[in-house]
Amino acid sequence: MSYKLPDLFIEQIKGVHGDEASEWLNNFEGLIADCEEMYGLHIQQPFNLSYNFVAPATTSDGSEVVLKVVVDQKEFEAELHALQLLSGESTVKVLAFEKERGIMVLERIRPGQTLAEIEEDDKATLIAANVMKKLMVPAPVDSNLPTVLDRENSLKRIYQHYNSYHPVSKATIEEALFITEKLNISIDEPYLLHGDLHHYNILANGDFWTIIDPKGLIGDREYEVVQYLLNKLPEHGVEEITEKRIDIFVDVLNLNKERVLLRAYSHAVLATCWTIEDGHVKESFLNTIQVFKHLVRKYI
Ligand SMILES: Nc1ncnc2c1ncn2[C@@H]1O[C@H](COP(=O)(O)OP(=O)(O)O)[C@@H](O)[C@H]1O
Ligand SMILES: [Mg+2]
Repeated sequence: MSYKLPDLFIEQIKGVHGDEASEWLNNFEGLIADCEEMYGLHIQQPFNLSYNFVAPATTSDGSEVVLKVVVDQKEFEAELHALQLLSGESTVKVLAFEKERGIMVLERIRPGQTLAEIEEDDKATLIAANVMKKLMVPAPVDSNLPTVLDRENSLKRIYQHYNSYHPVSKATIEEALFITEKLNISIDEPYLLHGDLHHYNILANGDFWTIIDPKGLIGDREYEVVQYLLNKLPEHGVEEITEKRIDIFVDVLNLNKERVLLRAYSHAVLATCWTIEDGHVKESFLNTIQVFKHLVRKYI
């Protein structure tokens, strides 16, 4: 089957991967043909794409699966390793993979709506909190998985080039780095986190909820909630919703609220700077910096 990949997807992966993206795009048709042949797949139109190729497919015996091809090799390895370490009833199953080209065949989750479809924010947050509760396990002793120290280093690099991160100010980046350093040296027990557990990575699976797309981040449990806090926010009343979300997470997961607020603030700064690196500042992330800054000042 031949595809015309969406222009926005092409632009995004070029923004993130530069020259490597061009090579990947040139080989794309062949890659898809190989996947169809190797696994006997009939690949359908992709899901909404952001940074990787993800599409539903059927196998020769008619069963439904999902093909995911991850462009970045390191990210692929971390995702695969995390899926293996987090395997269980709440985690999507890996049916086959090929490391060299970042290919995974996954079980297809049905009906598969994302948690973003739940209108009531408290209800969605409670579901996410309960999924997290089942998921988090103590960090493996030896692994190449990314850690919160990598996040600290990323902020350090950003701080050295703060001029390139307008409209995020130097003082804000400095504060985020300072907070991250303090939090990283005071982790009681490191956990293996999903690392990107927002609404769009939690899917309805019959009567249950299943996670996809882990980053496999090693860090404190408080870090696990920050991606959720940055997503699916209303135009008005963001602070109020955010506070409610935080209280639900703190309660269900027995988290330290101060650490959650500090992680949320410093991660919002980092995540916003990453969107600037990718070519467009994400306004919704930028707004959360102010919200979390205000909450930090209010409670700490
Ligand atoms: N196993 C699956 N079953 C059903 N839908 C899936 C599955 N994997 C991915 N999807 C759909 O594709 C979207 C993107 O997949 P994801 O793995 O999150 O890609 P990315 O790494 O680009 O975020 C998800 O939000 C979901 O809607
Ligand atoms: Mg995803």
